[in-house]
Amino acid sequence: MKAIRIHTYGDVDALSFEDAPLPEPGPSDIRVRVHAAAVNPVDWKIRAGYLAELIPHHMPLILGWDVSGVVERVGADVTQFAVGDAVYSRPDIARDGSYAEYIVMAASEVARKPATLSHNEAAAVPLAGLTAWQALFGDAKLVSGERVLIHAGAGGVGSFAIQFAKWAGAHVIATASAGNEALVRSLGADEFVDYRSQRFEDVLDQVDVVFDTIGSDTQARSVSLLGPGGRLVSVVETPDAQALAAKGATGTFLRLMPDSTGLERIAELIDTGVVRVLIDSVFPLSECRAAHLKSQTGRSKGKIVLEVVAPETA
Ligand SMILES: NC(=O)c1ccc[n+]([C@@H]2O[C@H](COP(=O)([O-])OP(=O)(O)OC[C@H]3O[C@@H](n4cnc5c(N)ncnc54)[C@H](OP(=O)(O)O)[C@@H]3O)[C@@H](O)[C@H]2O)c1
Repeated sequence: MKAIRIHTYGDVDALSFEDAPLPEPGPSDIRVRVHAAAVNPVDWKIRAGYLAELIPHHMPLILGWDVSGVVERVGADVTQFAVGDAVYSRPDIARDGSYAEYIVMAASEVARKPATLSHNEAAAVPLAGLTAWQALFGDAKLVSGERVLIHAGAGGVGSFAIQFAKWAGAHVIATASAGNEALVRSLGADEFVDYRSQRFEDVLDQVDVVFDTIGSDTQARSVSLLGPGGRLVSVVETPDAQALAAKGATGTFLRLMPDSTGLERIAELIDTGVVRVLIDSVFPLSECRAAHLKSQTGRSKGKIVLEVVAPETA
């Protein structure tokens, strides 16, 4: 099969579009014909070797941990899926990924694809959607009526987080650059702060929850907005427990885990029209280098997709 692999850590030139062996499913796995994958910042962080100590990968490695496709083969112990089912997943990041014509995944990490979405749209959901879901409702335990500050509201994770928080009945405040205000408000933000022209901690009242997708100075300045009982969840950097404790608040670092139940809930929200998927751009699999360069700018609006099967032939 065709795949994008790396043989060594490096810049975009390490990405090689080449032939790779067809992966064989184990008893609890399924093999999926990949129709679309998505690019996430973790992909180029792994490609560059930034996470080499955290996640021990074999080489050559197929990148990409978002997938939408069709079940093509099931392991002997798999009962919940059959050949021909349309599915989506954020599979185990320690295994080969989805920048390929086929991927093998544990069936327990997979859910049925949202019926109302194309494969390109569905591939944009799992990693970013689950991150927002687990951060808001797992770590932060956000409930109706609370005030939540979501950083990078126009990004892949932030665009889902705004919609989930709004659906949960929270008062949603989002940061982005000025050109993205209308977009972020259309997703459900009640308040908007242009992080380039304003210091958010100077213009906002206290919040119950901060969702930090930026880290460093942004995370540090966010702590001042929390009070007793406040929660900060970061997906980029371990929060400063001492600084939070001084405000009576707590913090966690989220490391995303595969979650088929979360994917089923998100699919329901999509298919009932509560949540929409924001696509920044679509690249053919063979143009993965351009897709990585785009993601590395940190300026994408929603998700970057890699199309593996063109929709008219799907
Ligand atoms: N721990 C985990 O398991 C986990 C899971 C998922 C993601 N992550 C991490 O979370 C981060 C965000 O991921 P993502 O997929 O959402 O990234 P992304 O889609 O690439 O984010 C791009 C967005 O960031 C915004 N942005 C950049 N700097 C900003 C700032 N200082 N303040 C507010 N917004 C800013 C940009 O908005 P403007 O164009 O308006 O500036 C752009 O819309 C990445 O570092 C990723 O690796 C971690």
